[in-house]
Amino acid sequence: MAQLTTCEIRLARTKDATILAHMSRDYIEHGLGWRWRPASIRAKISAPETVVLIAEVALAGKRFIGGFAAMDFGQDKAILSLLAVHPNLRRHGIGGQLLRWLHKSARIAGCFDIELQVRANNVAARGFYKRLGYREVSHLPGYYSGREAAYQMTRNLAKS
Ligand SMILES: CC(C)(COP(=O)(O)OP(=O)(O)OC[C@H]1O[C@@H](n2cnc3c(N)ncnc32)[C@H](O)[C@@H]1OP(=O)(O)O)[C@@H](O)C(=O)NCCC(=O)NCCS
Repeated sequence: MAQLTTCEIRLARTKDATILAHMSRDYIEHGLGWRWRPASIRAKISAPETVVLIAEVALAGKRFIGGFAAMDFGQDKAILSLLAVHPNLRRHGIGGQLLRWLHKSARIAGCFDIELQVRANNVAARGFYKRLGYREVSHLPGYYSGREAAYQMTRNLAKS
């Protein structure tokens, strides 16, 4: 694989919505139907209570979106709704960088906990979240359209 030269974390712009929607379809929602289409992602980018974050990478002289994440901030709890890294760029710390950035923002926003749901068969993501301090608090059979189970995971932000 070519050398990953830079990885810059920045806020998403509405013009990024189509590529993020395709990443969601291909890397997160595969086999479940496509819920996060460009219009829904555009609405998320514009929503005041949501941060959509992008990891822009430079690889072999080209810049492109290598990963992204979306978090909704509530009064004392934040919800991670989307997170994906391009398959060729995984295990280079990009997912961790995105999530740590969001942890800091959630603390500053006054949130105590972060919550997320992950497909029960997504062993890689469950391992990733555990590594970043999340724990599985409940198993949700049929969570995805009655077809697939999820785990609810949470992380207390008091821990570094
Ligand atoms: C989950 C995901 C975002 C992780 O992104 P990433 O950039 O590869 O993660 P990082 O490189 O920051 O990994 C940090 C640590 O998490 C753990 N981890 C990451 N991927 C893992 C895997 N496949 N299996 C086990 N542990 C894993 C490791 O401890 C890793 O550290 P290490 O590489 O030094 O061992 C990425 O695999 C992905 O996009 N998956 C498809 C989409 C998805 O499942 N999204 C989550 C939906 S809820």
